[in-house]
Amino acid sequence: MTIRSVVLGCGSYLPQRVVTNAELASRIETSDDWIVQRTGIRERHVAADGEFTSHLAINAARAALAAADIDPQSIDLIVLGTSTPDNTFPATAVAVQHGLGINHGAAFDLQAVCSGFVFALATADNFLRSRSFKRALVIGAETFSRILDWNDRTTCVLFGDGAGALVLDAQEQGGGTAADRGVLTTHLRSDGRHKSKLYVDGGPSSTQTVGHLRMEGREVFKHAVGMITDVIVDAFEATGQSAETIDWFVPHQANKRIIDASAHKLHIAPEKVVLTVDRHGNTSAASIPLALDVAVKDGRIKKGDLVLLEAMGGGFTWGSALVRW
Ligand code: ACO
Repeated sequence: MTIRSVVLGCGSYLPQRVVTNAELASRIETSDDWIVQRTGIRERHVAADGEFTSHLAINAARAALAAADIDPQSIDLIVLGTSTPDNTFPATAVAVQHGLGINHGAAFDLQAVCSGFVFALATADNFLRSRSFKRALVIGAETFSRILDWNDRTTCVLFGDGAGALVLDAQEQGGGTAADRGVLTTHLRSDGRHKSKLYVDGGPSSTQTVGHLRMEGREVFKHAVGMITDVIVDAFEATGQSAETIDWFVPHQANKRIIDASAHKLHIAPEKVVLTVDRHGNTSAASIPLALDVAVKDGRIKKGDLVLLEAMGGGFTWGSALVRW
């Protein structure tokens, strides 16, 4: 028997306020056409004053717990991927744990920028498979609106706020093959040589300020497709699966051009690609669970489907996961 981290449910939350490209064009020198052509983004959600990353995460976690139909007290691990925590410390995951009325087990944040959800999923999966914990909430939650320079048109048009969550349960599964339900494989990578290509120019130890996001967009674009496809090939080789056998491709939603180019290079059929970047923008660690929740709710992702996840972001960090839903 093999222990697998099986998905019991997912949920998500988006702040109410929607900011369209037209609204941005009324404030800075940009246009709906430019943003749609270069990124595929049409609108994004932005958190209200006083609405923190933990608030978004708690709402997403509650939705996931309801979808899983389980007692929140059965959760003994919370791993929260975020680069926009409520405070420098304690971890936002602890605020989420408290908000859910849980005071046992462990809760911590994981910082891998846009790859945060894949890194959090891999971490939780390893803890569950080693029997250290039984049931985990894996959350991606961000308020990137708080670290954007709203006068920098090269970055502020790209990002949005939101949160998504999965409930994972350690379960014994058949034969340790790709027919099992649950997380089948994860592959994580990072390379700090690229750390200044996408970063925030502030922090507690360096400037004692929060700082703003800075990015060499072309450089990120140049590396993204190769890195993404490399870790997906790793996932295929580890499991014997392929572009043909996956049911859904749920990539980090950074940019439609990066997603299209990655899917094309891997020969993944366009109808298998779940796209939400048009409505959510890039929500960093939240983008994959937000997209998963959309595709589960509209009936695309069903029990037994083979779902491929990937992300790439600041660091650079990048990673993939293959999950039998
Ligand atoms: N509106 C209008 N014009 C703009 C805007 C804007 N919002 N932003 C930049 N421009 C202008 C530039 O000033 C430049 O003008 P110039 O030629 O007069 O100097 C022109 O558009 C072209 O700028 P580039 O930066 O060369 O545009 P590019 O085609 O590379 O597109 C983009 C920029 C969309 C950022 C692209 O590089 C990209 O997608 N990069 C990937 C970055 C990304 O997705 N990052 C997300 C975080 S990382 C991740 O999640 C994977």
